[in-house]
Amino acid sequence: MTNISGKVALVTGASSGIGAATALKLAKAGARVGIAARRTDKLEALKSEIVSMGGEALMIAMDVVDAASVEAGVKKLADAFGSIDILVNNAGLMPLSDVDQFKTNEWHRMVDVNVKGLLNVTAAVLPQMIGQHSGHIFNMSSIAGRKVFKGLSVYCATKHAVAAFSDGLRMEIGQKHNIRVTCIQPGAVATELYDHITDARYRQQMDDLAKQMTFLQGSDIGDTIVFAAQAPAHVNVAELFVLPVEQGW
Ligand SMILES: NC(=O)c1ccc[n+]([C@@H]2O[C@H](COP(=O)([O-])OP(=O)(O)OC[C@H]3O[C@@H](n4cnc5c(N)ncnc54)[C@H](OP(=O)(O)O)[C@@H]3O)[C@@H](O)[C@H]2O)c1
Repeated sequence: MTNISGKVALVTGASSGIGAATALKLAKAGARVGIAARRTDKLEALKSEIVSMGGEALMIAMDVVDAASVEAGVKKLADAFGSIDILVNNAGLMPLSDVDQFKTNEWHRMVDVNVKGLLNVTAAVLPQMIGQHSGHIFNMSSIAGRKVFKGLSVYCATKHAVAAFSDGLRMEIGQKHNIRVTCIQPGAVATELYDHITDARYRQQMDDLAKQMTFLQGSDIGDTIVFAAQAPAHVNVAELFVLPVEQGW
């Protein structure tokens, strides 16, 4: 088993949902966590929670779309804690709509955050991990990165891109630089993700879905991330496909 106590983790999208829950779980396992997002008030509350349970956290105001903000945030963490051992590339959004509604701003936003943002953070952290000859990168895909659903065409495209990038990244840097890469593909998780849906019909559909099954909690995903991070050093849990039992599709 890999002991992650004292290891340094960077979690993007840590201000809510899966990211916040994962930062807490990593901190509980002893990791020192850099918590990154745009809403710093939420990060402050999370930092207090981590500190009150005896953990260590560094707040990082970061917009993953802005490469300069990402680089500054990664430098701040490396300077403060000395290394970056675990990266959880989690920031993302899912405003659903049909393509023929032409909500092109939302399409571009998803590509910018879910794909380009993830690439920005990877590019900023990877040199540090290569220098250390160790590290573990978690990339947040989705069930929508394995299957395609109506109303999710662009979102599915972004999450398929994350899955494809993760597998290629694993092949390129795993053996060469001793860096593990895990692609996570959750089903329905109870978070703020659905709050950003501007299409009334799809918003209603997601609310109805929540009445049909017990969604996962962000902490369930945090647990699986800690599980993979704690796997023995020679083990790369390359994929995690985690669903509510009642999600029958
Ligand atoms: N909930 C689900 O059912 C589900 C299922 C599969 C996969 N996922 C994926 O899980 C990830 C986390 O989502 P969630 O469900 O936890 O939703 P959430 O509660 O809405 O969290 C999204 C996080 O992304 C951050 N974010 C968005 N845009 C950002 C930007 N430009 N720069 C930095 N951070 C940004 C948000 O922080 P700020 O707004 O403070 O910046 C927030 O912390 C996403 O990648 C999502 O696609 C979710």
